[in-house]
Amino acid sequence: MLRRAPRNDNPSCVVIRAAFVYNPSVERIRILGRNDLRLKGDVRISGSKNAVLPALAASLLTSEPVRLHNIPLVKDVFSMLKLMTELGLEYALEGTSLTLDVPKILSEEASYSLVKLMRASFLVLGPLLARFGKAIVAQPGGCAIGPRPVDLHIAGLQRLGANITFEHGYVKAEADRLQGADIRFEKKTVGGTEHLVMAAALARGETVLRNCAQEPEISNLCELLIKMGARIEGVGEETIRIVGVEQLGGADHEIIPDRIETGTFLVAGALTRGDIHLTGTEPSHILTTIEKLRYSGAVIDVEGKAIHVTGSAEIRPQDVTTSPYPGFPTDMQAQFMVLMTQAAGTSIITETIFDRRFQHVNELLRLGATIEVMGDKAVVHGRTPLSGAEVIATDLRASASLILAGLIASGETIVNDVEHIDRGYERIEEKLRGLGARIDRIRE
Ligand code: EPU
Repeated sequence: MLRRAPRNDNPSCVVIRAAFVYNPSVERIRILGRNDLRLKGDVRISGSKNAVLPALAASLLTSEPVRLHNIPLVKDVFSMLKLMTELGLEYALEGTSLTLDVPKILSEEASYSLVKLMRASFLVLGPLLARFGKAIVAQPGGCAIGPRPVDLHIAGLQRLGANITFEHGYVKAEADRLQGADIRFEKKTVGGTEHLVMAAALARGETVLRNCAQEPEISNLCELLIKMGARIEGVGEETIRIVGVEQLGGADHEIIPDRIETGTFLVAGALTRGDIHLTGTEPSHILTTIEKLRYSGAVIDVEGKAIHVTGSAEIRPQDVTTSPYPGFPTDMQAQFMVLMTQAAGTSIITETIFDRRFQHVNELLRLGATIEVMGDKAVVHGRTPLSGAEVIATDLRASASLILAGLIASGETIVNDVEHIDRGYERIEEKLRGLGARIDRIRE
């Protein structure tokens, strides 16, 4: 639900704030599944959650309005807007277009109560520091999928000349003006790359970032920054060069389609012998997943911004190993595992990005899957018929995997803790219902 509130200094403009009020403990998703369910129809893919979050943070780098289009209306976006409103953001949302305006900073402090809701909010640190010379941001804690430290973000900002101290769970950063540097990431990090590109955009002199992550969301951010006046070379490459400018300006920018929502619906088609037409997507961002699905037997046709998937009766087992882009995405691992429970044979799924990203396995076992976890590998024995049960969603992609499993499990599946799904999938029940699934939300 969205609430309108008048903007203080300009009554002609409205600020639309989110009041995404619900009590997660009483919301559950109920699926009436069928082993022979076939999903059919059209589905439109929303904008990318992981592209819009850094783009929101980037709006802190300028005093001019930044207009973003194709915004996914998901909870993480509203959490980030809430946090940034405390920092001085004024925004207006019309449909899926968002105008962001940070004319002046009201506070350089991002509190733990908001940062803990979403790790990506840590990305406000660099822009605040670069534009205002100071930032205090709560240090993100642990996460359901692994420890997820921010040491590489911090080390990079220090190399750009930030004086960083840690006090009472907060990271305090100060710098008169950041100074360009030559920085090599020890390991590929999506958030770390985004963070340093934003900070370096306003630094004095040249920054060279090496061993950068190459996810499309990072390129989408770089393209926004370039429109804002940043001087960036090597977009999408492992080495990115940024020549800092004195100030950045406003821009108008399109958020890329969500490649993980795309992949999730492709798996839904493959899993249900379905016939699904995805529109508004970007097939070139999800090629590794498309390739794996084709090997597993699904027929996938790509035409411009649309993808058509037809599932096959015989699903072939496939080993997958998650790796940074353009490798197989960790964010598709849980969903692909569900598909492999229906394959004719054994598949080995190796998770190399996060330490604890097999939390969905115990829940899939409750639905009747046969999976053994050995360190970073999950051995999935197919084909096992699934039967509906009550399960708990532990994180965003785990929730998606449990919904997929529930679709083909016989009888009723109840997914608890559904607040995770709302973080990153827009209207997932509605989209699945449009394809013929029997799925709804229970509010008690
Ligand atoms: N890492 C460090 N130190 C750091 C940063 C990262 O050791 O300072 C490690 C992480 O612990 C992890 C690896 O490096 O083992 C990769 O982490 P990365 O920084 O690339 O991940 P992220 O930026 O925190 C983003 C997505 C995740 C996605 C990962 C990997 C956003 C908002 N989040 O996280 O998305 O899984 O990249 O592709 O972009 C999701 O959407 O469900 C999700 C978790």
